[in-house]
Amino acid sequence: MLVQDLLHYLTARFLFLDEAVKGYEHLHELFVGRSHSNKAIAVETSESPTILTVPSLPKRQLVWMITGTSTGFGRRLVKSALLRGDLVIATVRRLEKTDQSDQDDIPVGLQANLRRIELDVTEGEDALKAKVDKAAVTWGRIDVLVNNAGQGLVGLSEEGGSSLFRKAFDVNVFGLVDMTTVTLPYLRRSQGCVVNIGSRSAWKTELLGVGPYSASKAAVHALSETLATELAPFNVKVLLVAPGAFRTEGIHSRPFFQERPVPAYDDVRDITARRFASIPGTQKGDPARAMEIVVDIVRGEGSAVGKPWPSHLVLGQDAIADVRAKARKLEEAVDEWEWTGRAVSYEWS
Ligand SMILES: NC(=O)c1ccc[n+]([C@@H]2O[C@H](COP(=O)([O-])OP(=O)(O)OC[C@H]3O[C@@H](n4cnc5c(N)ncnc54)[C@H](OP(=O)(O)O)[C@@H]3O)[C@@H](O)[C@H]2O)c1
Repeated sequence: MLVQDLLHYLTARFLFLDEAVKGYEHLHELFVGRSHSNKAIAVETSESPTILTVPSLPKRQLVWMITGTSTGFGRRLVKSALLRGDLVIATVRRLEKTDQSDQDDIPVGLQANLRRIELDVTEGEDALKAKVDKAAVTWGRIDVLVNNAGQGLVGLSEEGGSSLFRKAFDVNVFGLVDMTTVTLPYLRRSQGCVVNIGSRSAWKTELLGVGPYSASKAAVHALSETLATELAPFNVKVLLVAPGAFRTEGIHSRPFFQERPVPAYDDVRDITARRFASIPGTQKGDPARAMEIVVDIVRGEGSAVGKPWPSHLVLGQDAIADVRAKARKLEEAVDEWEWTGRAVSYEWS
């Protein structure tokens, strides 16, 4: 009996190590964004799997639809795409907010390649569909959807409650889902791509006050991965971008949630609110450089030449360190409880 138990243990240990190595490779690929050439996706059927490969976007003048372009990443991305010769439909919440500096940002000769439309991603699917359908008529197609619009809503979980989480999800998740849903008919036709701006906060979650934002971005990451699988048969690709801290104008403009104070958190709230308030201007990331890489990947140019389409793009030294730390932490957690975790099945294997 003792010998049999020992054999069971050794077999299980061997299987675990084998799977841990494969799992680590998978996690590494998942988190660090290293993927293999001409990404192959297996579609599971009852018979043998069909392997579909994801080719690069065809070389041509692309039509981009970019949300949230009044400031930050979105504003830089509009300029980058235009300078590569592409056409851009840029969404802003209020057209009157676009001022002379927005005009000056774009070389005069390229302004005809830009259409600005007014759109709030929380308007709901019907309203967004009407606006996207109308905008698509401009150049007759949409090749690239960039779900960039987002808000950095932060607050302590108990104080914010579900209403703060809902606010974050309304913009960062449901707005993104609605924009994707109404744009996909165009992207399927053009065999284009969806670029979702996630965040390293989906992985760096052990930070006071970041709960609503982190949770919403983790949802963006998960749904992007599923979407990539669902869209692969149509040759529509998904790029999930996970930036670290970048010096944009608006991401820290929303005040730390303090409207429903729970006295037990008085000290923590104060310290945390001050910490968030001290971030603007100190971020190491340059948003213009980051968006150049996104354009490289979408167009298969510059830093993306000769490289396969990455499912994940982790941007910033801070983000890369955080993702690696999370991958290690997960592996340790699995290791530590592996033996117990395996022992819960009806059948031992
Ligand atoms: N900066 C960073 O460190 C960082 C790191 C990781 C991820 N990100 C993500 O990057 C994306 C862009 O953020 P950013 O840093 O560039 O910040 P930003 O300067 O605040 O830009 C956000 C943009 O989204 C727009 N927006 C906000 N709510 C909207 C809504 N309901 N409907 C439509 N547009 C809306 C804003 O428009 P208004 O001007 O009208 O508010 C603005 O144009 C976000 O998804 C953010 O979560 C940023």
